[in-house]
Amino acid sequence: MPTKSHVRLREELERELRALEARRQRRTLATPAGVNLCSNDYLGLAERAELHAAVVQAVEDALRVGGTGSRLLSGHSAVWEEIEEEFARFAGTEAALYFGSGYAANLGLLGALLGKGDIAFSDALNHASLIDGLRLSGARKVIYRHRDMEALESALREHAGETGRKVIVTESVFGMDGDCAPIAEMLELAERYGAGLIVDEAHATAVHGPAGRGLVAAAGAEQHVWAVVHMCGKALASAGAFVCGSELLKQTLVNRARTMIFSTAMPPYLAGQIRAALRLALGMDAERAALLERARSFAGELRAAGWNTAGSASQIVPVLIGGNGEAIAAAEHLQAAGFAVRPIRPPTVPEGTARLRLSLTAAISAETLQRLGAALQEWREQRPRGAAMVHA
Ligand SMILES: Cc1ncc(COP(=O)(O)O)c(C=O)c1O
Repeated sequence: MPTKSHVRLREELERELRALEARRQRRTLATPAGVNLCSNDYLGLAERAELHAAVVQAVEDALRVGGTGSRLLSGHSAVWEEIEEEFARFAGTEAALYFGSGYAANLGLLGALLGKGDIAFSDALNHASLIDGLRLSGARKVIYRHRDMEALESALREHAGETGRKVIVTESVFGMDGDCAPIAEMLELAERYGAGLIVDEAHATAVHGPAGRGLVAAAGAEQHVWAVVHMCGKALASAGAFVCGSELLKQTLVNRARTMIFSTAMPPYLAGQIRAALRLALGMDAERAALLERARSFAGELRAAGWNTAGSASQIVPVLIGGNGEAIAAAEHLQAAGFAVRPIRPPTVPEGTARLRLSLTAAISAETLQRLGAALQEWREQRPRGAAMVHA
């Protein structure tokens, strides 16, 4: 017999879910079927036989397959030290520290460096992990218009007289718009106004920059940013993330990053998976170039056909639809045509900008993209008249 409080909780939760449903924002879990356009496995490594074999080998070589405790207790081992050194070389920084997820890395990093009395300048479209990290840190948050350097500069100027740490926080390739932050310009502003720069490379790691080393490396800024965060769960087809920066930053995180200190280490064989993925990815310059060229040409074709693809300049091509119901209808149309496409709705993206987020991977051919463009066009022609669309 459920208790009174349990009955009340059920009623409240059901009411909340119904309200989400009414706004067409209720999410459900579904296994992708058809051509996968919602995967972040940009280089197709998750299905590569060499990576599978490396994982099996890493499990066999591992003395234990459990994390067993925090890295500060029993969870540390030589494999973590080795992969951190190797990853720091990849990132071009003095040191790197591994976290079990990108979300945990951002929370741990921001919480360790910032507190009450500090100010963070944050791009309006930053990922939830950066938003939550800043919120938890207690620092004051100043949000500037997406990628708008004038807005950023005027915010920095406005707070120039204030003491406390100041830092600009940005993604390098934005996950929902597929556009890129102007890292060199941001670094210049940061230096002019006595601020630091923290860059989340989640969607750039192994895809953008020299040998896939990200946009911070492309700008030659590895030694100048406070930290750069590279994720392993996307193009590296593994899990976790490295916060890369100075040795002093690493030691500070070991002492202050709560998401690392108070969390069980990942199983050691994962270090073997990351190392194998990183080595494979380093040799994939041709695949990277082909992927980015295919995405550029696909986005260009969509724009020519009148679709709004925001500022896409990467393997992520959003197609802005506008209303939630419309985005769901468009996604369902594409799903019926054999494409695994998800509608992205608020609060993940701003109100009124619900979209299809087409995430291209090395496995998707130009011919498939042509069929996708045709299916989109078909939806546009048959959708109910008067339906809202966000125009180019
Ligand atoms: C920009 C960005 N930062 C951080 C994360 C979190 O990384 P992870 O999935 O490893 O927790 C994501 C994942 O979606 C992301 O897109």
